[in-house]
Amino acid sequence: MEEPVFNAILGRRSIREFTDQPVTTAQLHKIVTAGIWAPSGLNNQPWRFVLIRDKDTAGRLAEQTRYGRIVESAPALIGVFLDTEAMYDPVKDHQAAGACIQNMLLCITEMGLGAVWLGQILQNKHRVNEILGLDPRYDLMALLAVGHPAHRNQRSRRRPLADFILNDIGGEKT
Ligand SMILES: Cc1cc2nc3c(=O)[nH]c(=O)nc-3n(C[C@H](O)[C@H](O)[C@H](O)COP(=O)(O)O)c2cc1C
Repeated sequence: MEEPVFNAILGRRSIREFTDQPVTTAQLHKIVTAGIWAPSGLNNQPWRFVLIRDKDTAGRLAEQTRYGRIVESAPALIGVFLDTEAMYDPVKDHQAAGACIQNMLLCITEMGLGAVWLGQILQNKHRVNEILGLDPRYDLMALLAVGHPAHRNQRSRRRPLADFILNDIGGEKT
């Protein structure tokens, strides 16, 4: 049985080095389409996006995070925001934003592109809104750096499953 979703989940790595090859508008729209098909509480779809391929804007955003080198070198950036006026429950809306972002990362993986979820820049999220000319009602959730991976040497680790399953109530006896 082919398992494209499971393979994308396990095969996805944070990509922090990119080639100079551009990311097209059609590619970005496909990625955002994957994002907006995430589930959200009451289907309120609170996510909003800013697509950035302008080097001057990227340079100014790069100054807002210690991961500026990644921001500067990525051919495309996607700012993911919650529209606070569309929100109905802080926990559930933030969960929806996470689902949206992961959908985009998996789509990016399937497309043969690469990305990293940048969260450290949230420390300067108000400045990010200023740079992007955005009203404060839009609350930055993440900046995704997107491009063609320069290499595929990334490795990542997870602790064993048993570390995470607290109990298996009613499961078969082994
Ligand atoms: C909420 C969140 C914030 C993150 N922020 C950053 C960041 O600011 N800079 C960075 O290089 N990676 C960032 N990452 C990526 C993680 O470092 C990465 O997902 C983790 O090390 C596991 O590696 P993997 O994505 O290749 O499995 C962030 C990931 C998440 C989920």
